[in-house]
Amino acid sequence: MDRRFEGVRACVFDAYGTLFDFGSAAAGCRDVLGDRVGPLTALWREKQIAYSWLRTMQGRYADFGQVTADALDYALAALGIEVPGLRRRLLGLYDRLEPFPEVPGVLAALAGAGYRLAILSNGSPSMLAPLVDRPGVREFMGEVISVDEVGAFKTSPLAYGRAVERLGVAAAEICFFSSNGWDAWAASDFGFRVMWCNRAGAPREVLPGSPDVEIAELGAAVPLLSGR
Ligand code: LAC
Repeated sequence: MDRRFEGVRACVFDAYGTLFDFGSAAAGCRDVLGDRVGPLTALWREKQIAYSWLRTMQGRYADFGQVTADALDYALAALGIEVPGLRRRLLGLYDRLEPFPEVPGVLAALAGAGYRLAILSNGSPSMLAPLVDRPGVREFMGEVISVDEVGAFKTSPLAYGRAVERLGVAAAEICFFSSNGWDAWAASDFGFRVMWCNRAGAPREVLPGSPDVEIAELGAAVPLLSGR
């Protein structure tokens, strides 16, 4: 047990990019996208997150399914991709994103160590439900908390605060996991203990907050949180 995580009672996970590989949607259409899988994945994600921030700033919340579809429309147009049926196929795959390979083992280990497990995601309840409802996830995941309940996307403090309310624990008793630097920094600034799962090897953000540790994949969290 690493000292920095003493007193943690709940492990709360970001969904997209942390537990579930959003790259698996475009990768599932490689037959028509070819070498455009990477550029489409990157631009779709970039616009999805930008639109979530902009809508929150403007007071024009729409659920994450809408934001995800709008961002896809932008990305397909920007990249000049016009393939009949592709939009529908990509959005269908987004509801069935693959978990990263280590996820079932990590969830089992953390649940076995006595932590409550939860998701805190921008995803709407209807987007998250099919992702969570799979073997290796559904047995361990307690609460699925959507920012839809507060009508504001991360990094609004309302979004992080919803996890505190739903779980009934103090912010400092939550260990939050995100692969998104901006999310990890904001969650730390809010008061969570934070593990930044830096899958992409991204540089550190220069923003308020600071994650407690940086890990390359979720498996590295288990020794830091076990042996209480
Ligand atoms: C989420 C996105 C931001 O799951 O990854 O909230």
